Amino acid sequence: MNKTRRPLIAGNWKMNHGGPTGVSLAAEIAALARAVSHTDVVIGPPFTALAACAAECHGTAVGIAGQNMHSKGSGAFTGEISAAMLKDAGCTWVILGHSERRQLFGETDGAVAEKTVAALGAKLLPIVCVGETLKEREAGETLRVVKRQVDAVLDILAQDAASVAIAYEPVWAIGTGKNAGPTEAEEVHEAIRTWLNGKSTDLAARTRLLYGGSLKPDNAAGLLGCPNVDGGLIGGASLDVAQFGAIARAAEAIASGTPGKS
Ligand code: 13P
Repeated sequence: MNKTRRPLIAGNWKMNHGGPTGVSLAAEIAALARAVSHTDVVIGPPFTALAACAAECHGTAVGIAGQNMHSKGSGAFTGEISAAMLKDAGCTWVILGHSERRQLFGETDGAVAEKTVAALGAKLLPIVCVGETLKEREAGETLRVVKRQVDAVLDILAQDAASVAIAYEPVWAIGTGKNAGPTEAEEVHEAIRTWLNGKSTDLAARTRLLYGGSLKPDNAAGLLGCPNVDGGLIGGASLDVAQFGAIARAAEAIASGTPGKS
């Protein structure tokens, strides 16, 4: 199946490879990205490795993402990083509202919205993360929770022409080895597309919807083949170039209309 949006395969390294090992990993990923001309590849190293990874990937097709940022441009915010600083370090993307930020660091929908405004204002492309917990899924609240999280940024994304991404990451699937099946993932992705479409057909057309949560080489083709899944946000498997490469090639096979090629 050929899809209209280019797939986006993004690695969220979390708190791993913040030094020389990150630069080596970036170099290996830059080499594999040459083989996937229909697929956008992005890596999200820790802050300490952003500039070095960006230098390593300069002139290649690999984009660099921050994993978080502050909504203010500067000031007395010890330990924080602004959108302009991410740009200076070589980022074109920023991951916002990851469930670990929401759960472990108390990030609210409002905070994610403020960060989204600041990112777009600095011409950084946000990957806004949404997703329900196991308790919320079991209570039948999945779509209500995800809609609330999407609604918090909907007007902001619609007012800007940037080709942003929203990552659906069911919290129960992150780092657990338990992924949403293609049917479960597509149900939520289709709902998100419908909400975007209700706001603006242009927004729905230009926004890539990524799946995240135990995305691995063996489940990539099924998940990435769903009509409303435009790529993946990958944690554990993004730290292993063979696994990350296999996932990128699965996206490439779908995008280039040659399923089965890997
Ligand atoms: P895993 O791929 O390790 O489940 O992590 C997903 C994730 O949180 C990406 O942001």
